[in-house]
Amino acid sequence: MQFASITKRVAKLGSEKWMPHLKAKKMAEIDPDVILLTIGQPDISVSDELANITIKAIKEGRTGYSNGRGEQNLVSSLVNKYNDECGLNITEKNVLCFPGTQTSLFASIMGLVNEGDEVLLGDPLYATYEGVVAAAGGTIKRIELKKENSFRMNPSDLANSVTSKSKVLLLNNPHNPSGALLTKKEIEEIVKVCLQNDLWIISDEVYASLIYDFDNKTEFYSPLNVRDASHRTIVVSSISKSHAAPGFRSGWLVGPKNFCDAVLPLSETMLFGNQPFIADMTAYALENDFRTAKKMRDSYYHRAVNIYEVLKKTNKVEPIMPQSGMFLLADISKTGLSSDAFVKQLLEEEKLALMPGASFGENAHHLVRISLTVPDKMINLSCERLKRFINRII
Ligand SMILES: Cc1ncc(COP(=O)(O)O)c(C=O)c1O
Repeated sequence: MQFASITKRVAKLGSEKWMPHLKAKKMAEIDPDVILLTIGQPDISVSDELANITIKAIKEGRTGYSNGRGEQNLVSSLVNKYNDECGLNITEKNVLCFPGTQTSLFASIMGLVNEGDEVLLGDPLYATYEGVVAAAGGTIKRIELKKENSFRMNPSDLANSVTSKSKVLLLNNPHNPSGALLTKKEIEEIVKVCLQNDLWIISDEVYASLIYDFDNKTEFYSPLNVRDASHRTIVVSSISKSHAAPGFRSGWLVGPKNFCDAVLPLSETMLFGNQPFIADMTAYALENDFRTAKKMRDSYYHRAVNIYEVLKKTNKVEPIMPQSGMFLLADISKTGLSSDAFVKQLLEEEKLALMPGASFGENAHHLVRISLTVPDKMINLSCERLKRFINRII
């Protein structure tokens, strides 16, 4: 008798993209001099206030089973949040809670994409997107996000990329890895193309609270804000970035009622509900804790400026100033190295780990992504190492 083979659905979902990080992490375990500027892990912990609420909830017995949609208090907080921010009139039937943006995205793609359907995606892209689409049996149609357009999606490039198989636009705004933020006008035009072509929109907004909006002009705008688009828009997000709480795995999706009804059984069959004590903390965080995001945003911005100025002065590696988020991209074309080679050599020679652009799509091989999530002192040290390395190789 032979075992059944393991399905192709779970093959090649892209975990090798994180190899440069995992390799450097292993090195750092035995050598404390190794600096990791690889992943988007906040360098502060969840606030004492939120930690205490979680502990209190556990002690008060909020440890039983929940339900597939989410705890009532959290669902209500989310309804209020999106009604306030997007001028909607949604109810709890429009919300599903999941462990993080990642699972919310996974469930959304599972709910919308049939075998052979096409998902339109800006490239460079977040490293897990290709795997999520592949898991559902979908294919990816890439829309190049051009450096000369600051890695923003151009609505006419989107329109030109649509085919008869296109079903969904997976939009990431604010964008990882570039930190680009789309304007209201761009979002309206993108939504218009989606409406004209009968596309669903999934909007990954996990960085929405980390926008460098010090000029009062840089404003976040969601497809959910666009009139007549909410019946085909699904927003996915979480408290991972906004509240420095990635390990809590607490996220959600907001979408049309018929879509949420259809996806609810997926949540029930896969998760059997979220943790009530985490729901309590998340509901409180959404309603009360806005300081953590501001604090992180301020430090990420200052670190980005610091690295930007150092790299700019090299005249060899060109930094691209982000408008939001936890990362800065740099163009390494002039070094003549591929992003994989640059990252490998930098780690070996200077004990500094970055992520190669190659992990973020087909249009990112000339880029490296630098995480801003280590303390200022280490950022300064990283800048010295980067400068020395760049001057040595060119
Ligand atoms: C664009 C993007 N989407 C989703 C995620 C996953 O977020 P979560 O921790 O909420 O699952 C990340 C994490 O870095 C991300 O950068």
